[in-house]
Amino acid sequence: MELPLPRRSSRTRRVVFGIKILGILTFLTTIGLIFGLTFHTVDLLGQIGAKVNSLKPSPRAQRSFKHPCGLTATSARAAGCVFDVMSMAWQAQECFDADLHESFMLEGPWEFYSSPDPSGRRMTEEEISEAGVVSWTTRRYFVTHCVYGWKAMHRAWQRGWRMDANLASIEHTELCSRVFMNTSVPLEMVTTRLHVDFPSCN
Ligand SMILES: *[C@@H]1O[C@H](CO)[C@@H](O)[C@H](O)[C@H]1NC(C)=O
Repeated sequence: MELPLPRRSSRTRRVVFGIKILGILTFLTTIGLIFGLTFHTVDLLGQIGAKVNSLKPSPRAQRSFKHPCGLTATSARAAGCVFDVMSMAWQAQECFDADLHESFMLEGPWEFYSSPDPSGRRMTEEEISEAGVVSWTTRRYFVTHCVYGWKAMHRAWQRGWRMDANLASIEHTELCSRVFMNTSVPLEMVTTRLHVDFPSCN
């Protein structure tokens, strides 16, 4: 016995074929629209973002970070800068690591003198923060200053923060390397000559 083959009429086949073609076209159009719109939307959002930014520049972008504290203690205070005892410099807020500074200040008290001789008188932080003033301090301060700078640099790098231009310079690291390697200087000896700096904040 022969089973009758399920046969479709040629009309039905044409309809099925048409539906398949329509399905493929719809699919391709949808994919095309999704990609087209996505790219277009991203581009459009980017253009809107750029417009908004150009209308409202951030105060950060307008500020100069080349010697942002000026070159005197007075101009530094007026610019809202902080006297960083551990880096011995006036720093813009963007270049001041308050938490790190606080923890290193606890390692003190840090004392500053007008001369390396026993005759040298104690100087206040306010006095030594003035441009051009020379003060003297212990080797312990110098070593701790270098450790502070080392940590500050790593923290700034991790967080993408700006960095005091002195700290960022290789000369500072070379100087600190010599300090670390030279273990012949007693830590309590007053041998370190200081003067405050007004670095750029890069
Ligand atoms: C270590 O430092 C002292 C004091 O600054 C200096 O006199 C001495 O030459 C230094 N030693 C070396 C090996 O650099």
